[in-house]
Amino acid sequence: MKRKKLIVANWKMNMNLQQASILLHRLHERIQIHKDIEIVLAMSYLHLQPLSLQIDRRKFRQSAQNAYYDDHGPFTGEVSFSMLHDLVHYSLVGHSERRVKFGESLDDVRKKVSAAFRNDVLPILCIGEQKDEHLRQETKQVIHDQLSSALLDLTAEEVAEMVIAYEPVWAISNGTDYHGHDIATPDDAKEMAAYIRLQIESTFGKYAANSVRILYGASVNSENARAFLDADGVDGVLVGGASLNYHEFSGIVNAAYRSLHGLEA
Ligand code: PGA
Repeated sequence: MKRKKLIVANWKMNMNLQQASILLHRLHERIQIHKDIEIVLAMSYLHLQPLSLQIDRRKFRQSAQNAYYDDHGPFTGEVSFSMLHDLVHYSLVGHSERRVKFGESLDDVRKKVSAAFRNDVLPILCIGEQKDEHLRQETKQVIHDQLSSALLDLTAEEVAEMVIAYEPVWAISNGTDYHGHDIATPDDAKEMAAYIRLQIESTFGKYAANSVRILYGASVNSENARAFLDADGVDGVLVGGASLNYHEFSGIVNAAYRSLHGLEA
């Protein structure tokens, strides 16, 4: 039996509530209920509650884009996983923009992954190398370090449930240039998915390595999605810029459907 596909939209810091609501409305019109495709929308904290009233849960699940690792206390301006617990299934953790622009350390990411599980939120852990690391061919070392540190406090059962998104930072678009941006190849995605599973197997065993869902992300659009979705060991895609456009995003969902059912692109 084919594994389910997982498509995650990362809306980042775009759209006011009205714009996000219109986009969600369009996605409802365009995207059908698929038993074998799970679609997750990672939205701003501000949009989670109001859009939870609009969302068709048979089609979409909600995700946060980040949260703080302590559950409560004197952390002005932060939102904890315990506050998100009732609203979301998932949260992105350690997105490269958090690591690079907001200085999130390996330690912060590890604590966030644990806090997510402590509050029944499934982490979508983002890992990936920077351009200079890529050019120095240090990708595997970087992935190894980010992964081993993020998973340090977890059990094999937890690892089996979570999602890991491999996002080469140098290939991430700026939101509008997801067509024609530098991009990794489906073979890179396949190679890294295999590497991630191997590393997980050595620490957490075969079951966790096989069950963990691995996504590819960075400049995925409706034209290139199929090749990534067909890559061995890749369970789905994490989509930034192209998720803001309902033609593009529904095209990516359609590519997942066609990949699962062996239909031509
Ligand atoms: P992109 O963003 O699809 O616009 O490259 C992906 C991400 O940053 O998660």
